[in-house]
Amino acid sequence: MIIPPGIAALHRFGLIDGPSPLAPLRRLSETLGGTAEIWIKREDLLPLAFGGNKLRNLELLVGAALAEGADSLITSGRRWSNHCRLTAAAGARAGLAVHLVLTGPPPPAGAEGPNQILDELLGATVHVTATDDRAQRAALVEWVAADERAAGRRPFVIGVGGTGPIGAAGQVLAGLELADQLADVGIGDATVVLPSATGGTHAGLLTGLALALLPLRAVIGIAVASPAAELRSAIDATLDGLEPFVGLRVAPDAVVIDADQLGTGYGRPTAAADEAIRLLARTEGILVDPIYTAKALAGLIARVRDGRLRGPVVFWHAGGGPGLFERLPPAD
Ligand SMILES: Cc1ncc(COP(=O)(O)O)c(C=O)c1O
Repeated sequence: MIIPPGIAALHRFGLIDGPSPLAPLRRLSETLGGTAEIWIKREDLLPLAFGGNKLRNLELLVGAALAEGADSLITSGRRWSNHCRLTAAAGARAGLAVHLVLTGPPPPAGAEGPNQILDELLGATVHVTATDDRAQRAALVEWVAADERAAGRRPFVIGVGGTGPIGAAGQVLAGLELADQLADVGIGDATVVLPSATGGTHAGLLTGLALALLPLRAVIGIAVASPAAELRSAIDATLDGLEPFVGLRVAPDAVVIDADQLGTGYGRPTAAADEAIRLLARTEGILVDPIYTAKALAGLIARVRDGRLRGPVVFWHAGGGPGLFERLPPAD
């Protein structure tokens, strides 16, 4: 793998021991009729706290925090945020205090969901807001940062989802890693299917795969949090932000978004995602979560079934396992 100099120059705090596995899903492929050769990229097996894609972003964000002399991390997200759980884990590994601002109606006392329980287990201080209003969340993050500074500490604020050019640069490395693995197994024309929420993973992977000059067919982001137009502009902004680090701007028409699996919104269960969870569990013994990865898998399955997707396909298993145990709001 040749790392672009602009990314090699970034500070990096090691959280990942080596490549996540790329493995074939033979029984799932057969069950879906054998027209697609489905592989899985096991980002869910990355080392810390039940794994997940956001450890890629956090290697560089924690590296930046340490280089600045920070002694605490502050980030925010929904109560079920995997990024928040992994920030708590990365902070523990780096010896940094972690503050998490969690949004959404708080659960009744004693009924915290699995991610919040894990956040606290990992030593993070959790601040819960009563709403999921973005402006209120930003204000509370600023208030926590001001409080830290007033106490003589040096906080480093990480944006929602760890997105932005520095975090997404970690996903560029993931894209380069996948390109090496595909070359090793002799696949040169795969389609990659991933869950896309803030779009940082999508933008980084697209950029990494473009840098590797792999003749891919497409990278399809299954929208799990916002409608296609909103997601597209977030991805475009991150692609712009990555350009100075990599010397390459992926063409806008390479951004493929499928918003058919969003259902009634972020964190709202869908019948197709429920079916995808059961199908993968019962053919391969692998678990996906209802918020992110099951919706991406449902998009993949729909495309294989109606013939839009054939040949080699990589399902990007971005992690999120604890989400299986979250008490989610019902579909509207
Ligand atoms: C399991 C999982 N998959 C996918 C995503 C989406 O990644 P991104 O925000 O980079 O689009 C997230 C975001 O937190 C996640 O936790």
